[in-house]
Amino acid sequence: MKRLIHLAFLLIFAASVSAQQISIIPKPAEMHLKDGNFTLNATSSINYDTNNIEISRIAQFFNDYLETVYGFEATENADGNSISFKIISSLDLGKEGYLLKVETDAIVITASSANGLFYGLQSLKQLLPVEATNTSLAIPCLDIKDQPRFAWRGNMLDVARHFFPVSFIKKYIDILAMYKINTFHWHLTEDQGWRIEIKKYPLLTEISHWREETMVDHYNSGKGMDGIGYGGFYTQDQCREIVRYAAERYITVVPEIEMPGHSMAVLAAYPNLGCTGGPYEVTGVWGVHKDVYCAGKEETFEFLQNVLDEVLDIFPSEFIHIGGDECPKDAWKQCDACQKRIKENGLEDEHELQSWFITRMDKYLSSKGRRLIGWDEILEGGLAPEATVMSWRGEKGGIEAAKQKHEVVMSPNSHMYIDHYQSRDKDKEPLAIGGFLPVQKVYSYEPIPEALNAEEAKYVLGVQTNLWTEYVATTKKAEYMLLPRLQAQAEVAWTPKKLKDFKDFEKRLETDYLRLDKLGINYRNHKQ
Ligand code: ACM
Ligand code: ZN
Repeated sequence: MKRLIHLAFLLIFAASVSAQQISIIPKPAEMHLKDGNFTLNATSSINYDTNNIEISRIAQFFNDYLETVYGFEATENADGNSISFKIISSLDLGKEGYLLKVETDAIVITASSANGLFYGLQSLKQLLPVEATNTSLAIPCLDIKDQPRFAWRGNMLDVARHFFPVSFIKKYIDILAMYKINTFHWHLTEDQGWRIEIKKYPLLTEISHWREETMVDHYNSGKGMDGIGYGGFYTQDQCREIVRYAAERYITVVPEIEMPGHSMAVLAAYPNLGCTGGPYEVTGVWGVHKDVYCAGKEETFEFLQNVLDEVLDIFPSEFIHIGGDECPKDAWKQCDACQKRIKENGLEDEHELQSWFITRMDKYLSSKGRRLIGWDEILEGGLAPEATVMSWRGEKGGIEAAKQKHEVVMSPNSHMYIDHYQSRDKDKEPLAIGGFLPVQKVYSYEPIPEALNAEEAKYVLGVQTNLWTEYVATTKKAEYMLLPRLQAQAEVAWTPKKLKDFKDFEKRLETDYLRLDKLGINYRNHKQ
């Protein structure tokens, strides 16, 4: 009896040691701990089909990670224990699912596609202890069977209010990949700057990318403008490089080209595209501006279609984001061309004109084999037939769209706007746009609103955090705003609802912070 108790105690102790080490984020759908450890070191062998480029790249990612963090690599065909990456197309876990088996002498990751294999790798990296012991890493034996809850696990970065270099966009994509995010929504155009080279319209990168000054602090702070010129843009080659880099990490880049609002920067270079003909300027003031594309002139559509032609050539994504949010109707109300358009098409008002505008772009994108996605204002005046809605002003737009049998991405500003403050004590935080969104609140989000029945719920593609950058001027601050709220969103997007548990998440986060320290990634420690 005494021996049995002793044995039980030992087993509990062993299990708890292992449990402490296991801090996979997002938490896998199924995981079973076993006894023992696999010991990874420089004599471990790494096995994969070297004729398969994707698997080879994934195996190389693993070795790159080992080299960066621990200073050694596993070796191809070494004599020691082995780590294998395998694609088995008959495996029934969906495109993104994987199996990860750790035994004392072998680790095997299996998936039906490279996407799943890549996610298995992310989990394996998170199974490694933060610190090596005598250049070897003990990995607890276990079985994981994992696949995501939602297909759209997105994050948006606004590079228009502030511009970030290609090197940082790559680092950002690497961070998204660590947490199995699969969609990078790249917000490329704004009133305050146009950030993508369009060969047919060179003034976009001569004039529209540059503002003369930027607002300091909040509007009501009375601090005014900084008087410092600011700009930047990505060449088409750089955009292609980002698309490729992201694809290698199983992330789709969804570009956003804003219309009809948030477009002052374009009008500054091409004033004929506005209702009055200008002059207009690239503004350095945040907020919603009344100068928007004229919906009456054919020139506007010719411009936008030409721009989209180049965008489609760079970005292979199924979805193309056309903005559609916050478009004041003041200019349209005063414009003969816009009023003529309303009359000719039997439209009720300027809201229906916006709907007509979006429907025209929807048809254009559909004719090119792509799908339009826009912010929830595209519901106003009637939703375009093929449109997908990104619900940001709460969940109302998402619910309405799903009830109309349109797909939606839930991104409510109440839970997913990571430009908001991370503490109630705002004076102790770096300047943010406002609000209060702690990691707990992001974590608490349930993407399927109660108002939807089971059939309607199928239209919810997933969930997305948005990082607007009016008050995010540096890469360090971007990371601070992103993490750990991204981890929380990742778990909302991936993990089965019944497994969500904030206390357990928080424990895993503690280990995750240590990993981020090692990787030189900034974050806001939510415990401080
Ligand atoms: C938005 O935040 N204006 C989509
Ligand atoms: Zn007009």
